[in-house]
Amino acid sequence: MNLAIFASGTGSNFDAIMTAIEDGKLEANVSLLVSDRIDAGVIEKAQRRQIDTVVFNPKSFANKEAFEKALLKDCKDRGVEWIILAGYMRLIGSTLLMAYEHRILNIHPSLLPAFPGKDAIGQAYDKQVKLTGVTVHYVDDGMDTGPIIDQEAVRIHEQDTKDDIKQKIQAVEHELYPRVIQSLTIKEESR
Ligand code: GRF
Repeated sequence: MNLAIFASGTGSNFDAIMTAIEDGKLEANVSLLVSDRIDAGVIEKAQRRQIDTVVFNPKSFANKEAFEKALLKDCKDRGVEWIILAGYMRLIGSTLLMAYEHRILNIHPSLLPAFPGKDAIGQAYDKQVKLTGVTVHYVDDGMDTGPIIDQEAVRIHEQDTKDDIKQKIQAVEHELYPRVIQSLTIKEESR
């Protein structure tokens, strides 16, 4: 399974996926890291692991279609089969959705359909919910609306700060995402 990871942030999920591959828990290879932010911490993490990195500035393209066409070529040139969003802060447009139908995954730090969009952890904290969690889903043209593949719950205790919740959520993400990707690999091989 040949993966491209798209990320805009620090890249702890990128690292977790790479570690799962190195530990033999995930049978895949990552042939490309795409980031839309020049200052994203994930870029250094990818370079340290000698993963091909494409960093683009969306503003230097006419529109989403234009930069997605370029990204599509970057993916196709490397034989990418699945696109894994890991903190990529943009909606995917029709160019990539059509080329990678049912082959784009996202991880979201809440139990969808609760708290879609930005700052899901802050939203859960502000609502004082007692249970939140992590969702891995297929990507469609909506904001965190695609079919859900797997979820795991995280309990919020009275004394938990937003940072405590984030840490618990991330620990779950780092275990859940590689596991879900691996399960899709197995499904694909048995087809
Ligand atoms: C994760 O919490 C993920 O659920 C969300 O963005 C965050 C990315 O974190 N979509 P990181 O850059 O992988 O550390």
